Amino acid sequence: MGHPPAPLTRLPPSVARLRRFEGGRRLGPAEPDPRCLWLRLFHSVRIALLLMMAGTASAADLEAGKARAATACAVCHGPVGLSMQPNVPHLAGQPLFYLTEQLRNYRSGKRANEVMSVIAKPLTDAEIDNLALWYSSLQVRVEAP
Ligand code: HEC
Repeated sequence: MGHPPAPLTRLPPSVARLRRFEGGRRLGPAEPDPRCLWLRLFHSVRIALLLMMAGTASAADLEAGKARAATACAVCHGPVGLSMQPNVPHLAGQPLFYLTEQLRNYRSGKRANEVMSVIAKPLTDAEIDNLALWYSSLQVRVEAP
């Protein structure tokens, strides 16, 4: 069936490790490539640090968004982003990007609404981000009729 595989002049390290298995010189799971081990260790430490930083930052942002929403938005959009008024949309569970965009658009005048344009006008970028983070992180369950 076809040509025999071309002989390898030098075995790649993975094959060399398998060969040691074959000869019974090694038992147990395949040993990881030591070069990869250091890289992987470095990588996981870096990821852990990044996660820790991101985690603390967004927890504070989330709290700030929650507090702001309770005083500035809940009266119309409801305490957990589910509106009780027929002319007010739900905000809970909307995509972060969508909420951020809409608030920026109200603020800039790209989207106009007599209520929301006034409310969004004084919001800073950080306040918009925090509010959007809060509403987007609320979990919504949907049931089909
Ligand atoms: C006085 C009532 C009222 C308050 C207070 C209020 N909103 Fe609204 N909001 C509305 C209404 C009404 C709309 C629908 C406007 C439209 O048709 O564009 C709306 C729309 C929005 C939208 C767009 C939703 C969509 O589906 O496109 C966002 C985002 C939003 N509000 C965020 C907020 C945030 C954040 C706050 C607090 C800082 C807030 N709103 C405070 C009444 C309110």
